[in-house]
Amino acid sequence: MANVAVIGAQWGDEGKGKVVDWLASRADVVVRYQGGHNAGHTLVVGNETYKLSLLPSGLVRGKLGVIGNGVVIDPEALLAEIARVQAQGLSVTPDTLRIADNAVLILPMHGALDRAREAARGERKIGTTGRGIGPAYEDKVARRAIRVCDLAEPETLDAKLDELLRHHNTLLASLGAATFDKASVLARLLELAPSILQYAEPVWERLDALRKAGKRILFEGAQAVMLDVDHGTYPYVTSSNTVAATAASGAGIGPHVVGFVLGIAKAYSTRVGSGPFPSELHDDIGALLGERGHEFGTVTGRPRRCGWFDAAMVRQAVKVSGIQGLVLTKLDVLDGLKELKICTGYRIRGEVFSHLPAAAGAQAAAEPIYEVMEGWAGSSRGARSWADLPAQAVKYVRRIEELVEAPVTLVSTSPERDDTIMVRDPFQD
Ligand code: GDP
Ligand code: IMO
Ligand code: MG
Repeated sequence: MANVAVIGAQWGDEGKGKVVDWLASRADVVVRYQGGHNAGHTLVVGNETYKLSLLPSGLVRGKLGVIGNGVVIDPEALLAEIARVQAQGLSVTPDTLRIADNAVLILPMHGALDRAREAARGERKIGTTGRGIGPAYEDKVARRAIRVCDLAEPETLDAKLDELLRHHNTLLASLGAATFDKASVLARLLELAPSILQYAEPVWERLDALRKAGKRILFEGAQAVMLDVDHGTYPYVTSSNTVAATAASGAGIGPHVVGFVLGIAKAYSTRVGSGPFPSELHDDIGALLGERGHEFGTVTGRPRRCGWFDAAMVRQAVKVSGIQGLVLTKLDVLDGLKELKICTGYRIRGEVFSHLPAAAGAQAAAEPIYEVMEGWAGSSRGARSWADLPAQAVKYVRRIEELVEAPVTLVSTSPERDDTIMVRDPFQD
């Protein structure tokens, strides 16, 4: 009996939330281990839609949720999200949510710096969510971050804020942005402290105990492999490692505990923000995919860029992240298209590549090489077994499986929790 890690295999928004919610019925605890409230995970359960950014998706099933040390936590955003989902009837209490006491906090100057830098980049902007994710991870690595546990020590907070503000106010002033005043930041943090600290603990200890008691742990990734700070389309990436290996360091467990690595991919491709996207469509089909797939960012509401499935890129994600099973989502969005294309490699300055090279110039110049497949006339929407799928849709899934070199474990055919085809139970692997 394995644990399972769910990660995005493209550029995010593959449907990780839906898959985690579906799998959570088989798990005892759901753990977030990287990213922050740049993530937006949508779960549709009957008439209710939950949009989660920081809270582990298992809370919707009443499962214990853990936010690991690898997550960057904006305390204001966390408390607002807790209040929002409580208003939808979910129970979030210190019994159902635990937060790593050594997780890094996102403070107001991080968002301000993120947005000021993006404005200064102009045409070359990354298209971040503006939530302060990059600056918070920078502070962590630079050893000046304020962490959850610091909220319990006013003197430590006071001293750390001196260093933090010396750094950030200098940068903000140089960008022409407003600076921050220590007294008001400190006062607000002390005001928020009790609400956050009630959830805080060394979560590594709890996870170790749960593991020893034979409990099933589901690790919920945010963002995706092509947004990984090392393996993604750098510099158009997020500021954390998003590959499955991060689940170990971002939760405080050994790599062998991570278990089965499940990669989530849409049956086509989307991307929010700037950066290379070789199979992007600028035509009517791209617009149709966006419309049918409701492709608008959960966090920022920006329209997502749409394109054909890029098998070369997903194969790369399979390899660098050790994906053992693939979940193909949003197959229903392709219903009725006469012809489908799958990107199998790239032509870059006259040379053929089976993977996306690391250099930004080469990535920007990559032209997709396509394989063309026949579409299907029938509907795959709501299918819950192979038998419910049009024959050509099955062929499409099988071809993707071959090209990406990973078996398809689940297929998702609508936003609704149970519209899912299980090929193999990932917890049994
Ligand atoms: P995440 O960030 O990976 O959790 O994905 P998002 O929640 O940001 O975006 C995925 C969107 O697609 C959400 O609105 C889901 O409700 C929706 N979705 C998930 N699976 C399917 C599916 O199989 N078909 C359709 N049509 N929509 C889906
Ligand atoms: P989920 O978990 C899609 C993108 C942003 C931007 C880049 C850097 O819902 O899949 P950041 O604010 O992280 O510094 O932005 O990363 N991005 C996402 N795109 N889904 C996400 O999360 C994303 N989180 C960040 O659009 O291009
Ligand atoms: Mg999302």
